[in-house]
Amino acid sequence: MHSIVITGGTPLNGKVACDGAKNAALPILAGALLTDGASRIWQVPDLADVHTMLDLLSSVGAHVERSDECVYVEASQLTPHVPYELARMMRASFLIMGPLLARLGEAFVPLPGGCAIGRRPVDLHLKGFEAMGATIHMDKGNIQAVAPHLHGADIYLDVPSVGATENIMMAACMAEGTTIIDNAAQEPEIVDLANFLNGAGARIRGAGTSRIKIEGVGCLKGADHTIIPDRIEAATYLVAGAATLGEVRVENVIPTHLTAVLAKLAECGFTIIAENSSIMIKSDTRPKPVSVKTLPYPGFPTDVQAPFASLCSLGTGTSIISETIFENRFGYVEELVRMGANIKVEGPNAIIEGVSRLEGANVQAGDLRGGAALCIAALAAEGTSHVTGVEHIERGYSDLVQKLRSLGAAISYSPDPEERFEVG
Ligand code: EPZ
Repeated sequence: MHSIVITGGTPLNGKVACDGAKNAALPILAGALLTDGASRIWQVPDLADVHTMLDLLSSVGAHVERSDECVYVEASQLTPHVPYELARMMRASFLIMGPLLARLGEAFVPLPGGCAIGRRPVDLHLKGFEAMGATIHMDKGNIQAVAPHLHGADIYLDVPSVGATENIMMAACMAEGTTIIDNAAQEPEIVDLANFLNGAGARIRGAGTSRIKIEGVGCLKGADHTIIPDRIEAATYLVAGAATLGEVRVENVIPTHLTAVLAKLAECGFTIIAENSSIMIKSDTRPKPVSVKTLPYPGFPTDVQAPFASLCSLGTGTSIISETIFENRFGYVEELVRMGANIKVEGPNAIIEGVSRLEGANVQAGDLRGGAALCIAALAAEGTSHVTGVEHIERGYSDLVQKLRSLGAAISYSPDPEERFEVG
């Protein structure tokens, strides 16, 4: 697998446009299985995880076509079995369970494994399905859910889980009666999913708040929908601009989706100008130290935690980042330390003593956002870095190398360092 080669020290300058949000596209593509007609979905990002989701839809009988940024899904004939070899590639595969349960009254979905950032159970998803009348069995690592008659229920989520909120909301669209989800996640991607489903004939109210009400309907028709911009991608490029003392304008973004991140960047001392669909950041000094605590939306997003740690590594004092969502999301820290960062992880907290410079190094990405953090650190470091584990980064960032190069970065793909030294 190739690596990304970055020679740091160049301030990023210019403008970059965000793609559609990965974390909206994945549930919406799963939600297209609820419709017995044809849906056309625009601004679907060209990402590895999206490719996996499209393969999953096809594997359960949907007809899927893709042209440029539009995806066409026709889901009139479905089967309930999700293949392990596809489901194991991505946790979001589990989002197919709700739609299959609603359409077919049964679903056989492999239990998603944990991943680099934590155990990531699905107990809240299953608890919601059971409350709506499903019977759940575990069979050789597959979860079998059977519900000949899904009915509405009042469901309280112990944790405002994004995936559980989405899966339950999708199953409830066609349950008989009304479902209430309390302590629901409030992310913009959930609002986008609800907008798609309502466009297909669902009756969802309250998405974006902690209490969502879904009145079941008999069937959903196909719908046309445009995915919202990716707020996490936007945050990643803003942080990269700040870390390299540059001036970057991010376009195709909804600034109100990034209130917590923009507030923290302003607290770091950067100039930020937010307009209708763009945000400009200008940085001419190292960031001031800040305290960051990841929280469910509208709090500071856990997906921006790692990129922000790279920025704070170059701060003028001691910053503290607390990760409250996932139990193991500091895997990238030891790689930053190899670049000269001074970070100590103590339980859910990363204590970051800012340093005046980072040094390029060969580093390995272990997960999607940690990989982005390593790229940001490499862009700000002196010297050259080789970032391996590119497959993780490409799950969530399309055209990362091209977009950063368009901002002036000295960045390219290269054969894996080990490959370079293989004896011919
Ligand atoms: C979604 O994951 C996102 N993925 C993640 O983005 C994001 O980090 C996360 O939400 C939090 O915002 C997609 O939308 C595809 P959760 P999800 O269920 O739904 C616990 C990225 O980098 N939990 O909100 O899996 C869980 O262990 C990815 O783009 C249960 O205990 O996250 C975690 O501690 C990474 N039981 C917390 O809730 C459950 O049944 C939040 O998880 C479900 C979750």
